[in-house]
Amino acid sequence: MADGNTLPECGMRAPSATENSAGEIRFLFAPMEGITYSAFRTIHHECFPGASEYYTPFIAPDSRGSFKKKYLKELTEGIPSVPQLLVNNAAAFNATAVKLCELGFREINLNAGCPSGTVYAKHKGAGMLRDHDSLYRILEGIFDQAERLGYHVSIKTRMGDHSTAEFGEILALYNQFPLSRLIVHARCRDDLYQGIPDIEGFRKAQEESRCPVVYNGDISSTADLDRLLKNVKVHAVMIGRGAVTDPALFRTLTGGSSLTGEELRAFLDRLTEAYLAGGLSPAFAVERMKTLWAYMRVLFPEDGKQIKMILKSRDIEEYRAAVSGLLPTAG
Ligand SMILES: Cc1cc2nc3c(=O)[nH]c(=O)nc-3n(C[C@H](O)[C@H](O)[C@H](O)COP(=O)(O)O)c2cc1C
Repeated sequence: MADGNTLPECGMRAPSATENSAGEIRFLFAPMEGITYSAFRTIHHECFPGASEYYTPFIAPDSRGSFKKKYLKELTEGIPSVPQLLVNNAAAFNATAVKLCELGFREINLNAGCPSGTVYAKHKGAGMLRDHDSLYRILEGIFDQAERLGYHVSIKTRMGDHSTAEFGEILALYNQFPLSRLIVHARCRDDLYQGIPDIEGFRKAQEESRCPVVYNGDISSTADLDRLLKNVKVHAVMIGRGAVTDPALFRTLTGGSSLTGEELRAFLDRLTEAYLAGGLSPAFAVERMKTLWAYMRVLFPEDGKQIKMILKSRDIEEYRAAVSGLLPTAG
């Protein structure tokens, strides 16, 4: 870290809000299973306001809409958030949606993008994009109930199974339903998280979509956002890994100051304490924090040794000592 207070910018630049149109863009925090837990979202929202909504990592209900208690615990929070469902049939979505509406949620998101092998094999997530007839029937069932009961359904999708060129057909299908919002991760399932997002394909989709479209994929700096905005006009961007790596990203993208070491420390300390207070064992709390550090390590290109100590810490005392060696405490 350069001066003990400001983190290196990793190629990031804080532009003025007029330098690009980022000031007019809504930023959404992407769902990230195993990372953006309820405590993470709540504390992030308090420490680094800037995301207008947080999409929850997926809930995977059974066909009767029953889901594990842990999911419920992950939902109760007072910040703008949208629950996401990972299903392969309308009945599971609808039964769960009713429960979520009772809890006060008004938008439910359908996951049509998860590329994981086990999910794909069950025709869930990106696996839904394999069979368009079946996808149509599922959406028919989902929107029939949503319209009757009056809640919104949005979809987070990839642009295809084997190729983003499939998206024309998929979008024509989505366009037959009253989606409240379509979040497009501009890759196909085969891409997993590699390769360059298909911006041109996204631009076309945005022109053809009947509902508001949100861009998602590989935005982790103002340079990335500028590049996107040069090619396409977007009204909303969803960010995952970039905002996990740099929790102040939404601020810097709108012309605000860069992340400081003190605020990162305060954020991480609060999160560790919240995990412990929530009943997690110290060992599990450390594992969760280390998962974050695997992303954040790129903020500290000069501090490899200290980062290694954090990632290798075996208990909470070692973890705290290693973090203290890297980051100053506030005040
Ligand atoms: C560890 C991890 C967990 C994820 N979990 C989910 C999830 O639960 N639901 C979902 O729709 N997408 C999930 N995603 C995908 C992200 O929401 C996002 O679409 C993807 O990372 C691309 O955006 P980014 O480049 O801004 O990270 C996950 C991605 C990662 C790396």
